Amino acid sequence: MSTASNLFAGQRVVVMGGSSGIGEAAATAFAADGAEVVVTGRDRERLDAAVARIGGKTSGRQLDATDPAAIAAFFTDFAEGGTVDHLVVAVSGSAGSGPIAQLDLADLATGFDAKFWPHVRVLKAALPHLREDGSVTLITAASARAAFPGTSGLAAINGALEAMVPPLAVELAPLRVNAVSPGVIDTPWWDRVPADQRAALFDGLAATTPVGRVGRPEDVAQAILLLAANTFVTGVVFECTGGANLPTGR
Ligand SMILES: NC(=O)c1ccc[n+]([C@@H]2O[C@H](COP(=O)([O-])OP(=O)(O)OC[C@H]3O[C@@H](n4cnc5c(N)ncnc54)[C@H](OP(=O)(O)O)[C@@H]3O)[C@@H](O)[C@H]2O)c1
Repeated sequence: MSTASNLFAGQRVVVMGGSSGIGEAAATAFAADGAEVVVTGRDRERLDAAVARIGGKTSGRQLDATDPAAIAAFFTDFAEGGTVDHLVVAVSGSAGSGPIAQLDLADLATGFDAKFWPHVRVLKAALPHLREDGSVTLITAASARAAFPGTSGLAAINGALEAMVPPLAVELAPLRVNAVSPGVIDTPWWDRVPADQRAALFDGLAATTPVGRVGRPEDVAQAILLLAANTFVTGVVFECTGGANLPTGR
């Protein structure tokens, strides 16, 4: 659901990891609300297809968020057109999950390289180019504060990011820094799971989730836009899980 309010008209938004899933949905909502949006991703074809779907004043920039030089060059180029009003970091990683007894620490390190370090690196590189009272929204994961077996590595990666949000909000004010922490969202991230297994997994999760379904990318996009738009919200980790992570008292 888009508010289609022109709320972001004249504003410039960067969505790192915007060629799929949650990032694409956020870019679509920002564009529908009048923003000039730049989405990034590593795969050129995927990026071009996303830009065409998103529409509005959207452009794509192919870059790898694990590459410090590429990120620095991106923000330098982008700054030629003015400041960044809102930054969303939605790059994904999948490494680092599994029971701790079997978890390969090199795989966990890969998980940090794919998600934790790109989020921090992008934030740092963007700082000189962000509007003084603009916003940054990181995308973490409900695993950071849940107790699902086999997710301690993912909890560490996402928990590390979530722990940074409140001190960054104070340190960088009046820039606002928030995170959205999604539960299970039906995005291409899950394509790595065979379709029949994925359907069974989603059905099982829907049955135990208070709202009765897994999430859609648009659910998370709405949360991202709320945090970007509301100038009285900072230092918050906003849970967008359909209630799946609420304590049951078991
Ligand atoms: N889906 C879920 O259930 C779920 C749950 C909790 C948290 N999350 C988090 O939500 C965020 C978005 O996930 P998603 O489900 O939307 O995933 P997705 O559909 O796989 O989209 C990920 C996006 O990030 C880009 N990307 C990945 N690595 C990149 C890199 N190194 N440099 C630049 N772009 C990169 C991808 O494009 P390229 O591959 O072409 O680079 C794509 O545009 C992730 O941080 C994920 O951990 C997702």
